[in-house]
Amino acid sequence: MTLFNTLLASAGGEQNFFAHYIKEPVYLISAALFIFSLMWLGSPRTARKGVYAGVAAMLLAVIATWAALDTFDYFTWIILALVAGFIVGYPLSRVALTAVPQRTALSHAFGGLAAGLVGTAKFWYWFEPETGSPNLTAFRMIAIILEIILGYLTFTGSLIAAGKLMELKWLPQRPWVYKGQQVVNLGAFGLALLLGVLVIMFPDKGWSPWAFGIIILLALNFGWMLVMPIGGADMPTVISILNSYAGLSAVAMGFVLDNKLLIVAGALDGSSGFILSVLMCKAMNRSFTNVLFGAFGQVQTTVATTTQKAVRSASPEDASQLMEMASSVVIVPGYGMAVAQAQHKVRELYDALTKRGIEVRFAIHPVAGRMPGHMNVLLAEADIPYDKLWEMDDINSEFPTVDVVLVIGANDVVNPAARHDKTSPIYGMPILEVDKARTVMAIKRSMNPGFAGIDNELYYMDKTIMVFGDAKGVVGDIVKALTSKLH
Ligand code: TAP
Repeated sequence: MTLFNTLLASAGGEQNFFAHYIKEPVYLISAALFIFSLMWLGSPRTARKGVYAGVAAMLLAVIATWAALDTFDYFTWIILALVAGFIVGYPLSRVALTAVPQRTALSHAFGGLAAGLVGTAKFWYWFEPETGSPNLTAFRMIAIILEIILGYLTFTGSLIAAGKLMELKWLPQRPWVYKGQQVVNLGAFGLALLLGVLVIMFPDKGWSPWAFGIIILLALNFGWMLVMPIGGADMPTVISILNSYAGLSAVAMGFVLDNKLLIVAGALDGSSGFILSVLMCKAMNRSFTNVLFGAFGQVQTTVATTTQKAVRSASPEDASQLMEMASSVVIVPGYGMAVAQAQHKVRELYDALTKRGIEVRFAIHPVAGRMPGHMNVLLAEADIPYDKLWEMDDINSEFPTVDVVLVIGANDVVNPAARHDKTSPIYGMPILEVDKARTVMAIKRSMNPGFAGIDNELYYMDKTIMVFGDAKGVVGDIVKALTSKLH
């Protein structure tokens, strides 16, 4: 590497040529690509372009940062870190779509840990008690303290969130609450902040590394204590809040490292995570402050009914006959369609019905499934035309004119109790008003409740017909029945 360093030195003096002339313009392009990526990800039509733009932005950022290094002494370490990242990251990228929320939580955990470690390393690097630590300016110290508190709390908080979503046996799904929890949590956080102020004011004292270490321990402890009182039901929202914290710690890291791109990317990450969690809370009718501050004392009520009521059930063949007679059909996909991986069969059903001149549309609830955009991704994978996907606010007024609604593995998002039953845990949650259509058919395997753990009165209505079975199998059978009649 010595030859390389000599070449770099001759090209640009103290800093190399890239650092002087190329790095900042490339960072600017990368920042613009990140912004476009987020904009394009906002619509299914442009989402693919959004992913490519994000990948290109990241690649440019890494290459520019690397090329601008003024020494290649640590080349081996960087390669080792890349290889280690690849070994951990590749299997993580291969998970099923239904496991993406917990995978995302793990990514945030690693992001938070990285930010925390960078802050810690910088503090040690600049800590020089003999010379008064001139590099630890008040501004840098504020950034470092924020970075480590947010980074380390994101680390342990995200690990707990991932564990809850993985339904680990030793981790309670129910909120873990005890008397005085709020005081303990806020006390720990307050103490971390107080020590942080002291270290910012006296970064060169012999005791400041000790105080710094205690702040790290308090932040690590605060992270898991923040997430434990929140029930498994709110975990996806918590993940998006932790995403926001990880973004903010990246902003602080950008100030510590004097890296403008990190500041921009962290701010985008932080704000988009925050906006997403607010939107998710609205769609699930959850209190944002409860989720944000750890839903202290909130116990998720799950009310599974034991009363046996009569339901009407039919076979896939009966279902196909009813659909044949319809002139408009709305398909409502839910978590069950994702579990069964029935999206390709649903595409075949769409083709079979449209071939007969029947109008087919898809009604998408914002929190159907287990993550934002879950249904959109699955239907896009099956090449369902985007203009057939209707959002809840647009389709709700159409239901009274729809002949048949086919609910495929959706439950809570079509439960009319949300509209009128004040005792229901989902009361107030906006739903797809499928009960207003002329006929409703629901495919599911049993009368078991959905995510909220409550019975669904839709299934007991006179206009509802249950078609029991795995979504992929049932939809396949309906398609078979429809196509056999065509030949
Ligand atoms: P759920 O209410 O969870 O209902 C899914 C239904 O699918 C279940 O009733 C289940 O009944 C059925 N099912 C499961 N596997 C199936 C299979 N292989 N074939 C056929 N049916 C199957 O789903 P939803 O209506 O999509 O609502 C989503 C819920 O998740 C909401 O309560 C929402 O608040 C919550 N949530 C969503 C998000 C996001 S961001 N999307 C985040 C957190 C929480 P059987 O067992 O009888 O088959």
